[in-house]
Amino acid sequence: MSILVTGGCGFIGGNFILDYLASGGEKVINLDLLTYAGNRSSLAHLPLGSYELIRGDIRDQTLLEKIFSIHQPEAIVHFAAESHVDRSILGPETFIETNVLGTLRLLEMAKNYWKKSEGDLKENFRYIQISTDEVYGSLGPDDPPFKETTPYSPNNPYSASKAAGDHLARAYFHTYGLPVITSNCSNNYGPYQFPEKLIPLMILNALGDKPLPIYGDGLQIRDWLFVSDHTRALRLILKKGTPGQTYNIGGNSEKTNLEVVKTICRLLDSKKPKEDGKSYAELITQVKDRPGHDRRYAIDASKIKKELGFEPKISFEEGLNKTIDWYLDNKTWVDGILTGEYRSWLDTQYGQS
Ligand code: NAD
Ligand code: DAU
Repeated sequence: MSILVTGGCGFIGGNFILDYLASGGEKVINLDLLTYAGNRSSLAHLPLGSYELIRGDIRDQTLLEKIFSIHQPEAIVHFAAESHVDRSILGPETFIETNVLGTLRLLEMAKNYWKKSEGDLKENFRYIQISTDEVYGSLGPDDPPFKETTPYSPNNPYSASKAAGDHLARAYFHTYGLPVITSNCSNNYGPYQFPEKLIPLMILNALGDKPLPIYGDGLQIRDWLFVSDHTRALRLILKKGTPGQTYNIGGNSEKTNLEVVKTICRLLDSKKPKEDGKSYAELITQVKDRPGHDRRYAIDASKIKKELGFEPKISFEEGLNKTIDWYLDNKTWVDGILTGEYRSWLDTQYGQS
């Protein structure tokens, strides 16, 4: 039996496919449009019998019909998305196209396929909607962390588009009975992350002796989770999660952005000291704040711990060490990313390339 993963050439989807197959999963069909964020080389070494990449768009109904009829997947794990908040502020439309319309098309095809299926396939089929803690909005310093019952309150075009997709997924469970499970995870980091996001951007800028741009006062808080902990949680949800439920996933690791960037600089100072003898921390530069910047995210992950026995295993310090080592050791992957598109993004967002 196979599962259909969407967006598997991206950061979390790619790590999920590697983890799923390494843990005994039989076959993965990966539907990915290969946007700027998709990288087929991350999975190129996987054997053909257990992995197939289909380059295409989740909005393409004809393609979806063909994939369902040929591969008869037993589950869908839906990662494909436009995922970067800053890009959504500059151009929200593609976020609506992919995260809302694309999710709707996938749900509709999944519903038609599941309704026609029979026996074990019908009984065990699952649609996993990969969402984010950002849909819950922003917390004050003393607010309790987000629970699964916290009302959605998205503050930027990215999180609004993810919230809309999640509402559709919820509606497909309640209206049609499609066995949907939604996960809401905090900030991920680790190997294969596109360097527009905070941690890989800071690592690569530091190594390139470029400024490390901190938005505003740098005291915004995120809860960091190493990506392999996220993918393990998703495997548990796929296997043991209850249809119609949502599960929050977090790292129990709230840090300010300044703390994160200073830790990266400290680790780099010992792993790859600068030739001029200075600390990488001297590259930290305050820049203008992100509009509508959410101040704090924090996750109450007690439900997934109690119901599915999930807890993160990798501490922030350990995960950051692994991440920095990965970017230092994978120059070919990194060089493949530092293309014209990436340089033009740095120019648009930071006025530097
Ligand atoms: P990413 O940007 O690294 O990857 C997205 C992938 O989706 C890319 O491979 C891209 O080519 C593909 N894609 C985009 N549009 C597509 C389309 N129309 N059809 C098919 N494929 C398409 O994203 P990521 O950081 O790996 O995030 C994956 C999912 O996890 C997203 O849904 C995101 O909202 C969610 N999430 C991310 C984080 C995080 O910290 N990165 C945390 C929680 C949840
Ligand atoms: O919380 C989960 C979300 O985490 C996911 O849903 C998103 O897909 C993912 O991109 C991430 O969103 P954030 O906006 O939190 O991540 P980002 O890496 O863009 O930024 C993390 C924090 O660092 C945020 O407070 C903004 C700040 N930042 C970011 C960049 C890129 C800077 O200060 N400077 C920067 O250059």
